[in-house]
Amino acid sequence: MSRDMLLWDETLFRDPQVLEIDYVPEDLLHRENQMQSLVYCIKPALGGMRPVNCLLTGPPGTGKTSAVLKIFEEVEKRSDDVVVLKINCQIDSTRFAVASRIYRKLFNVEPPSSGVAFRKLFEKIVQRLIEKDKVMVVCLDDINYLFHEGHADEVMYSILRAHELFLGAKIGVIAVVSDTGKLYRFDPKVSSVFLPEEIEFLRYNYHEIKDIIASRVRLAFYPDVFSKDAQELVVDYVDSIGDLRIGIDLLKRSALNAEKRASRTVEIEDVEKAYESSRLLNLKRVIMPLSADEKKLLAIIAGMGRSKAGDIYEQFHEVTGLGYTRFYEIVNKLAELQHLDATFSGEGMRGRTRLIGLSYPPEDVLKCLKG
Ligand SMILES: Nc1ncnc2c1ncn2[C@@H]1O[C@H](COP(=O)(O)OP(=O)(O)OP(=O)(O)O)[C@@H](O)[C@H]1O
Ligand SMILES: [Mg+2]
Repeated sequence: MSRDMLLWDETLFRDPQVLEIDYVPEDLLHRENQMQSLVYCIKPALGGMRPVNCLLTGPPGTGKTSAVLKIFEEVEKRSDDVVVLKINCQIDSTRFAVASRIYRKLFNVEPPSSGVAFRKLFEKIVQRLIEKDKVMVVCLDDINYLFHEGHADEVMYSILRAHELFLGAKIGVIAVVSDTGKLYRFDPKVSSVFLPEEIEFLRYNYHEIKDIIASRVRLAFYPDVFSKDAQELVVDYVDSIGDLRIGIDLLKRSALNAEKRASRTVEIEDVEKAYESSRLLNLKRVIMPLSADEKKLLAIIAGMGRSKAGDIYEQFHEVTGLGYTRFYEIVNKLAELQHLDATFSGEGMRGRTRLIGLSYPPEDVLKCLKG
């Protein structure tokens, strides 16, 4: 073993915590306007009024979730009368799961068995808020995941019309949409009551990315550990993708690579090596929470390439034993989430054939499925 090999307790990280995914940055740089708009929406709650509903939009890794978490931290510091709750709709992806999450927050216990209807559960929630004289702000983060089968509409409708159910109920919503190009539309009966303050999170420009990365490097590493060249390469990569989450993951993985080769500095080669894994971060993030059957379908299509629905179904049925109805439900959900592209071809004299393919390179999907 070389004498230069890092000792086990030696490390390049001064504070590894600041590179973890759940770290909420002390300063959300270059998001002053968005933070101000959020304050404007939430402030009424501190005075016992209903908050202004808002809609946060923007591409992945542009600080939407972080902004909400920062505002919520402030609210919790200042008031006991406002209940704030961020719900990750990727995990709680049905109306019942969302209502259960709110119920747990307000009652500190599990909701009554899942036999209870969503509406009943929601009534109990609103009743509780009134009894305790609390205002509630619910953030439906990544609400895209609620759109299939009308869950988003029902959740939104219930929250927005809570005051009609029980006079005086004060509950507001922050809906967060990670826009990937697709326009999500609420049912007209929701849109007629949801007139949100829209807060846009645009992609960061090169200079903003440089600032944010530099600030995170200062917090995470001992001085001069992360070489200037390596840092510049991280900024270039982030600038080409537009997603800061990938940048922060790159910082962590490159430093681990440097440690592995017992170097006391992080160099370009460490970043290059890290990029292959970091670049798949977002794809992993969207694929991981899918159900086992949904993942099996992705794997099958990755193996077959773009194919006819009937052919894909045959394999899917063989692997899972599931029938046609379930197959189509899954296809529709995955197409809705834009993981699949399912279009009809004009091929053949007798009707059209549905062709199904992946929205991402199959080899990337297979890598992510492997974990
Ligand atoms: N302005 C900023 N200053 C410091 N760190 C930031 C900033 N914006 C984003 N980050 C960091 O980038 C990462 C991604 O941010 P965040 O999770 O808030 O993005 P998002 O817009 O919610 O993305 P998604 O749509 O994929 O959920 C986090 O680790 C966060 O700390
Ligand atoms: Mg987010």
